[in-house]
Amino acid sequence: MSAKASERESYVPEAVVLAYHERTKHYFQRFAASLGYMDWATQPDPFRRYAGADLVRLPLPKAGHPLPYWQLYAIGTVRPEPLSLESVSLFFRYALSLTAWKRFHETTWSLRANPSSGNLHPTEGYAVLPAIERLGDRPAVYHYAPRAHALERRAVLGTKRWTELVAPFPEGSFLVGLSSVHWREAWKYGERAFRYCQHDVGHALATLRIAAAALGWRLVLLAGVSDGAISSLLGLGRDEDFGEAEREEPELLALIAPELSSRVPRYLNEVTADGGGVLWQGRANTLSPEHCVEWPVIDEVARATRGSRNVSITEDCSSFPTEEDLAGTPVHQGLLSAEKAILGRRSAVAMDGSTAISQAAFFRMLAPLIPTQERRSMPWDAIPWRPRIHLGLFVHRVAGLSPGLYALPRDPDKVEILKGVMRPEFRWQRVPTCPPGLPLYFLQEGDCRALAATVSCGQDIAGEGAFSLGMIADYRDSLTRYGAAFYRNLFWEAGMVGQVLYLEAEEAGIRSTGFGCYFDDPVHEVFGIASRGWQSFYHFTVGGPVEDVRLTTLPAYG
Ligand SMILES: Cc1cc2nc3c(=O)[nH]c(=O)nc-3n(C[C@H](O)[C@H](O)[C@H](O)COP(=O)(O)O)c2cc1C
Repeated sequence: MSAKASERESYVPEAVVLAYHERTKHYFQRFAASLGYMDWATQPDPFRRYAGADLVRLPLPKAGHPLPYWQLYAIGTVRPEPLSLESVSLFFRYALSLTAWKRFHETTWSLRANPSSGNLHPTEGYAVLPAIERLGDRPAVYHYAPRAHALERRAVLGTKRWTELVAPFPEGSFLVGLSSVHWREAWKYGERAFRYCQHDVGHALATLRIAAAALGWRLVLLAGVSDGAISSLLGLGRDEDFGEAEREEPELLALIAPELSSRVPRYLNEVTADGGGVLWQGRANTLSPEHCVEWPVIDEVARATRGSRNVSITEDCSSFPTEEDLAGTPVHQGLLSAEKAILGRRSAVAMDGSTAISQAAFFRMLAPLIPTQERRSMPWDAIPWRPRIHLGLFVHRVAGLSPGLYALPRDPDKVEILKGVMRPEFRWQRVPTCPPGLPLYFLQEGDCRALAATVSCGQDIAGEGAFSLGMIADYRDSLTRYGAAFYRNLFWEAGMVGQVLYLEAEEAGIRSTGFGCYFDDPVHEVFGIASRGWQSFYHFTVGGPVEDVRLTTLPAYG
């Protein structure tokens, strides 16, 4: 056997993933490897552009779209908008656009509908669209340019190729794609950056799904699409267009359709935009003048999680609660418009340490995190696997609930397993006042404000909100069942949970913040998780925000 062949034979992607996850844990006594300081001279440009590609500006949608927030979740109640320049514009506005500029002294920075670890925005968005009046008279591959709220036409597709691509899908369907520029996160966070890129993809997948919901559209992740195929369709593998510019890692492809019957396939057989007659245009910009440091483990884990991802999964959800079971209390107050929640979403930078929320508000925020029996709850209808992310909660200020540790297992079949995995002394008492379908369990009473902050890298806001939480992933079983590539999907699911919480906090009139920074094993210790099979994947805090009045807020556009 040649050396290359033997190397191939001994290459075990799951081992690479496990090693990466272990070495990128934060510990009290040492953080995962990073530069340790901010090298401002090489700070990456958050805006990718393709110089030379036609730029189609999207008309900025008029503010004040009246759709109520609760209707985002009521699938089938919003009449599907026809595909037009205006609807595509609203879609990207809600999914990936800028929502504000902030200024402090001489420094300005932008914020977007999709949040991002460190506001570094590694995620790039693409769409493969049919001919649309005033957008383009041929089907084409576009890159979304958030600063300009515009689409860059990367390639024009022949009608035959487009027809082949969307043949199995309903009239009015199109594709969206996401990629990651690892360097944007690695610049600041070093080796742990791959995790953050994946969280950000999860948040963006949720914002895409939510934006589609506002237009009455459905969105599903497509399975069976290899990374090579995504690269080829979106032009990410084109050496001639990238040169020295930072490359983008293909992440996912999703189908957007005005309606989705069970007969519509959730996979693509063969995707490529390359080959006969496709004319590519545009050259990617270089994001940093140089890279002062490289993090090879990111390339290694990226490679180990390519290929087998998005295997076709069909899982039964008949044991999940129904919508009515989850909505024991009126689920939505109906006070906010979808647009206000989506475009007004912000991360809290500080919490007031005093705001308490009612039990009804608490339950209302948790209910949309649980997929329903009919598998029709948004955004969980976008992904085919049963929940693999469960919540360990630190409840600080929920009126009438004892402060302490709680659990929200998001899959009913995992309750008994989690009982066995966590501390034997935990009480696992159903919270009697919560809706019958909400699987919220009281574990242990106690003031855990300091504890929550400590395990969240000492970030005080984890203790100063109404509650915070750790997302516990069913880690080893997921990798064994779906393959090493599913490592990414676990972060995506965590990011989606986070995005729902972000919007729910807006609706409740408070705020939340995602934490990629937490001490991994100390979190496991809190819940008594000794098995490496279950791992903490993300943290969140929710509570009464304190605005930073030193900052000036400027409009996103114009
Ligand atoms: C994956 C992820 C990890 C994050 N980690 C932290 C964190 O550890 N601490 C923190 O204060 N904010 C954290 N944030 C919040 C970001 O800093 C915030 O999203 C970003 O500054 C953009 O602001 P916005 O959410 O208001 O748009 C995180 C956000 C994401 C999406």
